[in-house]
Amino acid sequence: MTAPLRVAVAGLGTVGAGVLQILESRGRPIAARCGRPLVVTAVSARDRHKSRPVDVSTLRWFDDPVAMAADPEVDVVLELIGGSEGVAKAVTEAAIGAGHHVITANKALLAVHGAELARAAEAAGVFLAYEAAVAGGIPIIKGLREGLAANDISRVYGILNGTSNYILTSMRETGREFDEVLAEAQTLGYAEADPGFDIDGVDAAHKLAILTALAFGCEVDFDGVYIEGIREISALDIAFANELGYRIKLLGIATQEEDGIEQRVHPCLVPEGTPIAHVDGVFNAVVAEGDSVGRFLAEGRGAGAGPTASAVVADLIDIARGNCLPTFAIPATELRRSPALTSERHVGSQYIRVMVVDRPGVIADIAAALRDCAISVEALLQHGRSTTEAVPVVITTHETTGAAMDKALRQIADLDTVLEPPRRIRIESL
Ligand SMILES: NC(=O)c1ccc[n+]([C@@H]2O[C@H](COP(=O)([O-])OP(=O)(O)OC[C@H]3O[C@@H](n4cnc5c(N)ncnc54)[C@H](OP(=O)(O)O)[C@@H]3O)[C@@H](O)[C@H]2O)c1
Repeated sequence: MTAPLRVAVAGLGTVGAGVLQILESRGRPIAARCGRPLVVTAVSARDRHKSRPVDVSTLRWFDDPVAMAADPEVDVVLELIGGSEGVAKAVTEAAIGAGHHVITANKALLAVHGAELARAAEAAGVFLAYEAAVAGGIPIIKGLREGLAANDISRVYGILNGTSNYILTSMRETGREFDEVLAEAQTLGYAEADPGFDIDGVDAAHKLAILTALAFGCEVDFDGVYIEGIREISALDIAFANELGYRIKLLGIATQEEDGIEQRVHPCLVPEGTPIAHVDGVFNAVVAEGDSVGRFLAEGRGAGAGPTASAVVADLIDIARGNCLPTFAIPATELRRSPALTSERHVGSQYIRVMVVDRPGVIADIAAALRDCAISVEALLQHGRSTTEAVPVVITTHETTGAAMDKALRQIADLDTVLEPPRRIRIESL
């Protein structure tokens, strides 16, 4: 066997401790696969005296993870702290600066600084690996960078946030409202005390921006992602979606067009018959469409100590084997800058729900607003009648532009008989 690969671990939380556990329990078979042992030589976290699920007392401890990242007795630094700025970025830059490979699970860091970090890693001749940053245990980074490397990818999309998927699944299964299900998810540990990143679509957008760069060979463009979360989804929408033959999923979707790249994260109505409609609970799924392979789907656990650590250790094994590839599959200096296409331009069918006072002419007024914006109706549902209380009117449309629907919704919202802002959910034909 050749010399051990010396590993320094910055961050000993859920992911960091999970990595140490795998290396401890599966050290021998992993060494056999690498042709050399992987040896953790240094660790760093905020609190040295914290009780942890792994024993780190015999390892070299650094209070300062940035100093550890630059230590000469290290070959690979794992950045498992988190956050797009501050210490995580400093650790990554220090490791690259010292000529060490870096493995990170940090999607926020890569979504915001991916292009510059990839260029720095390439200039230093080191590998910046991030399998764990997107869809946890699903090996989609390796899949796109290696397994599907022969393909021209036209679209990549998926369920990229387990917390949101858990909430939407639970709402559908129990008929409960968003707030109640979110509170339960927090109690069960499926949602953070501050759930904003997950339920407002930001976490999924971080991951989508990374997938886009890798799939299409362009610079990571997080600012180019249109983002809408799931807070506004109601039990009523889920019931109507069911009735119409759809399920509601928070999807991240990136499409390569002739004049640019469209990146969107928002709730979607997806047809009941599609495989992704049945990816439930905390599971993630990623679909890539390539010219040769056709449609490829991978499903698995997107978070948690085991799945995420599995991905980090896979990157370690690659480095130990010498399988070090460009961060985004092509040299960082050749990544394109593609124009971001806006959601106004997106063409697709849409679902709208309007809460109205049920007076004669209401439907005609809504239909007129749609007609004025050249939007044609596919189906209309209205259940229940009340002249005193709001009743829902649900309409699905044929394909239209986002801009036309924005205009129609403004007109509908201004009608006297409409009692609250209309809700819109895009329908995806997948
Ligand atoms: N958890 C998941 O399922 C999951 C899935 C995919 C990706 N990720 C990503 O993996 C990364 C780590 O997530 P996690 O869930 O493991 O986080 P975590 O449980 O909160 O752990 C963070 C670790 O970083 C340490 N830390 C924080 N600030 C530090 C500082 N200034 N100096 C040194 N150490 C510091 C903490 O130290 P103490 O322990 O002493 O407080 C802790 O050990 C994040 O980028 C996250 O987005 C996580």
